[in-house]
Amino acid sequence: MAFLADALSRMKPSATIAVAQKARELQAKGRNVISLGAGEPDFDTPDNIKQAAIDAINRGETKYTPVSGIPALREAIARKFKRENDLDYDASQVIVGTGGKQILFNALMATVNPGDEVIIPAPYWVSYPEMVALFGGTNVFVSTKQENNFKLTAADLEAAITPKTKWLIFNSPSNPSGAAYSHDELKALTDVLVKYPNVWILTDDMYEHLTFDDFKFATPVQVEPRLYDRTLTMNGVSKAYAMTGWRIGYAAGPKELIKAMDAIQSQQTSGTSSISQWAAVEALNGPQDFIEKNKKIFQGRRDLVVSMLNQASGISCPVPEGAFYVYPSCAGLIGKTAPSGKVMETDEDFVTELLESEGVAVVHGSAFGLGPNFRISYATSETLLEEACMRIQRFCAACK
Ligand SMILES: Cc1ncc(COP(=O)(O)O)c(C=O)c1O
Repeated sequence: MAFLADALSRMKPSATIAVAQKARELQAKGRNVISLGAGEPDFDTPDNIKQAAIDAINRGETKYTPVSGIPALREAIARKFKRENDLDYDASQVIVGTGGKQILFNALMATVNPGDEVIIPAPYWVSYPEMVALFGGTNVFVSTKQENNFKLTAADLEAAITPKTKWLIFNSPSNPSGAAYSHDELKALTDVLVKYPNVWILTDDMYEHLTFDDFKFATPVQVEPRLYDRTLTMNGVSKAYAMTGWRIGYAAGPKELIKAMDAIQSQQTSGTSSISQWAAVEALNGPQDFIEKNKKIFQGRRDLVVSMLNQASGISCPVPEGAFYVYPSCAGLIGKTAPSGKVMETDEDFVTELLESEGVAVVHGSAFGLGPNFRISYATSETLLEEACMRIQRFCAACK
């Protein structure tokens, strides 16, 4: 009898974490490695948020909380949805979890039966298909095109819907492509979705506050209120407030679904850290100037990276609207020989050779379901980004 559960054979560990690990190993051996694999802001959590956590400890807010979150946080989240997205949710329609990741996990665990289909536009965040597979669901990947800035078209969405479709998982701005959908682009998709009342929409708005130029963020249910009864809107404080380690994510949606997620969480974690929850109350209710400041910094980095990558021979990099990732194509290098003598046949070969040759760690596009591309996270200093892009240019020039 096998010791490990069958479910594990349906799931693979995170490729992005594997790249970070490989970079660390090389660094430990004394190599000068620039790691552009991690998906977290390099800034520190703002002081007012840290102070709120310290105050919570000193007040003795150190006990179990209600499973779905402390009332002050659920109310702050409901207010956030009204203030920023013009969405009406009662605090009872809100659940707080241990990061956005757990919210997604619990939502899928609460709803996916074997054989249910989940539509996932590619490239996608690595965790979605693994979670769906873990619960016995069937992933239906819909490829997007670089010339369309990696955005799902209405026709491709409609063609993917079947009577078995349970969810569309929708992520804008996107990890890994940085693509963000405008109001009109969303409308084209929601016009399709209103026609299929059995399809639910799981929107991952984690990068809402990281959009550039004059881009105006919108979330699908805001564009099409008729989707309200079948949309779970997920968000969190990890990326917007540089709070990845605090582990706070949240979602709002129909009460029945929130209740089911609460039931799962009650047998799983009993809810997330009380101290982190008080910190998140301050993040959402306190001053928001941190967000604007960061956006400017990220936009400068994006412009630097896009421009330098487009000067590397064989690489073409679209300009993303948001998040802190770029997703350039390395198609021009496939079939070429790296300085080591190896012929690069896939984007995974490309990133392996780049790491070996120049000590730059990026993640191959095939991990995100669309290639030949690679993902760069530009959540690091301009100095390091400039050096990394210079090394990428040198590497590409050396490939024959
Ligand atoms: C698209 C996307 N969704 C969700 C998450 C999860 O965020 P959290 O750290 O809050 O679990 C991430 C984190 O990398 C992400 O990139």
